[in-house]
Amino acid sequence: MSNPLDDPKADPFQIARQAAQVIAEKSGIAQHDIALTLGSGWAKAADLIGETVSTIDASEIPGFTRSEVVGHVSTIRSILLPSGKHALVLGARTHYYEGHGVRRVVHGVRTAAAAGVKTMILTNGAGGIKTSWLPGTPVLISDHINFTSASPIEGANFVDLTDLYAVRLRDIARTVDSSLDEGVYMQFRGPHYETPAEVQMAKAMGAHIVGMSTALEAIAARQSGLEVLGLSLSTNLAAGISDSPLSHKEVLEAGKEAEPRISALLAAIVAKL
Ligand code: HPA
Repeated sequence: MSNPLDDPKADPFQIARQAAQVIAEKSGIAQHDIALTLGSGWAKAADLIGETVSTIDASEIPGFTRSEVVGHVSTIRSILLPSGKHALVLGARTHYYEGHGVRRVVHGVRTAAAAGVKTMILTNGAGGIKTSWLPGTPVLISDHINFTSASPIEGANFVDLTDLYAVRLRDIARTVDSSLDEGVYMQFRGPHYETPAEVQMAKAMGAHIVGMSTALEAIAARQSGLEVLGLSLSTNLAAGISDSPLSHKEVLEAGKEAEPRISALLAAIVAKL
């Protein structure tokens, strides 16, 4: 089935507004406040943050793509938080490595902004470069290095990315868990994992965590005026940092193992927003 975002003449923000309209109609919630994209290991947070008002199949919403990755779900959930705020859980993340173009990667974020969202929470599973970040360690993203050579921004539109991962939100997260460490996330294109030499390059460039998502979405979030909170789960030590080879199965297993703990952490953070 064709995706309207693939028409180069189409306006991605217009399609995001249409998507937000469908979400408002199907959920009965006119405006949402917070959106979450839940990566490997974080999915359970959706069950913990509040009461699900409606679950919408992503294929019913303009511009969304069915996930091709085992372990990723393609639904959009509207959740009522105990505070009375409304959260959208975007379960249908499209990764840049899927090769459908950047517009599809950031469509969820743009839809969230069109749905009224002001706070975007981006989570992922990633490889840790700091040896102390054993599998299962959650890390706050303090900044990123976008190593994809792509941008979600079209045209001469110069968006400021200073304080992209808001200090204010990181401070709130640390009131929930003062031991939360933070680091610079580097987005590679993937879907292959990095070589040990690439991980050493990332480290020399100032990165502490490597992954295949988040940076492009964060840029689009900032373009739309959203405040961003980024959280990585170190599912493995990055290639060459430990001797063991990387496998998607083990990454998923590490995510599952950490899931109850880090999802509860995220739910506690959301309760303070
Ligand atoms: N590299 C890139 N992406 C990842 C990794 C990694 O080591 N682990 C989980 N996602």
